[in-house]
Amino acid sequence: MLDVIECIKQRRSIRSFQPISVSRETVEKVIQAATLAPSAGNWQPWRYYVVSNDDLRRQLARIASNQEFIVEAPVVLVVCAEPARAENTYGERARTLYCIQDTAAAIQNLLLAAHSYGIGTCWVGDFDEAAVQSVLQIGAEFRPVAIVPMGYPNESPNPRWRRPLREVIEYKE
Ligand SMILES: Cc1cc2nc3c(=O)[nH]c(=O)nc-3n(C[C@H](O)[C@H](O)[C@H](O)COP(=O)(O)O)c2cc1C
Repeated sequence: MLDVIECIKQRRSIRSFQPISVSRETVEKVIQAATLAPSAGNWQPWRYYVVSNDDLRRQLARIASNQEFIVEAPVVLVVCAEPARAENTYGERARTLYCIQDTAAAIQNLLLAAHSYGIGTCWVGDFDEAAVQSVLQIGAEFRPVAIVPMGYPNESPNPRWRRPLREVIEYKE
């Protein structure tokens, strides 16, 4: 098991996959890690669709601006937020913000856990939400936040550039 900092440093977006399936056990271990993310009031406003069907993966790729590597991945997760889940407790802020923050935290856990199990992923955000709901027959109460193709990597990309700390930190002392 990788040290968490090592895992964060090593993870890359993977856009090429080997034609090897990922076991349901591994997929569930990764989703289990996602569900350990923090969420406002612990409402856990997320849902994970696990798509392995060829035709559905093809349709997801088409909806996501024809990003063909989505079809190459043997498993594609569609991670959704459930805006109404914490609404009674926290109102508008939960519906428009917390559910997205919570689901994003879960997705990041998912990417890191997958990497630690040797599985490559890529967070895909470029898609039409309504089209994803329609293809997967997802109810309007679930809002697709990310499409995450998963599979054994067929590439090992170099790290992408990051803005230096001096540009992103501002101290108030
Ligand atoms: C909200 C979000 C949306 C993204 N959408 C896409 C996408 O549609 N297609 C894609 O190839 N990568 C997408 N990415 C991946 C980024 O391009 C990638 O994380 C970034 O370039 C840094 O590279 P790294 O993940 O290898 O560190 C997305 C990432 C985030 C967080």
